[in-house]
Amino acid sequence: MILEEIMKRRSGRAFSDKPISDEMLQSILEAGRWAPSCANTQAWNFIVLREPEVLARAHEALSRGNAYAKAAPVMILVAAKEDGGCPAHGLPYFTMDVGLAVENMLLQAVHLGLMGHPTAGWNEEQLKEVIGIPHEYRIVTVVFIGHEGDPTLLDERTREKENAPRKRRELSEIVHWDGW
Ligand SMILES: Cc1cc2nc3c(=O)[nH]c(=O)nc-3n(C[C@H](O)[C@H](O)[C@H](O)COP(=O)(O)O)c2cc1C
Repeated sequence: MILEEIMKRRSGRAFSDKPISDEMLQSILEAGRWAPSCANTQAWNFIVLREPEVLARAHEALSRGNAYAKAAPVMILVAAKEDGGCPAHGLPYFTMDVGLAVENMLLQAVHLGLMGHPTAGWNEEQLKEVIGIPHEYRIVTVVFIGHEGDPTLLDERTREKENAPRKRRELSEIVHWDGW
């Protein structure tokens, strides 16, 4: 059953401005909180924006291609310190930890009949400035969450992206059994 919900999740672009209940939002954040992280470092911080004037300030930092996301009633900025994760292998594990928390949140959103869209298309410095995020934190992603809206209201380019078939590399290309 979980695979069904995993496959149902998609990064949709047609958001309705219908608000999300506090209970729903709380359960999405709870799902994020219970993600695994390297040595349980839990480097993530979830900055939840939902006041219209705060959202409007944050919207100024979005790339043009992400303008569709302004309809979403909730933005979750996921921020972490670059040295907040595990120091293993010289890898930036804080980004993996954040990714796991974000996927948990996206799946909980699907479970609630909502849509979540993770993004990287925004000006980090501008977002940090308008939201007051301390200098030493990085915004790893911004997740937009909302109810699904009417795709016919999207501009033409965004509608094309919305209607494009979702693709994945075949398992045969990416899975190596018993050796590379
Ligand atoms: C780290 C990350 C950054 C992304 N940035 C954007 C973005 O800025 N704008 C956007 O519309 N989608 C963005 N996406 C969504 C991806 O385009 C999407 O996940 C991918 O095309 C696969 O589609 P699916 O999520 O519907 O399966 C991002 C996804 C991830 C994980």
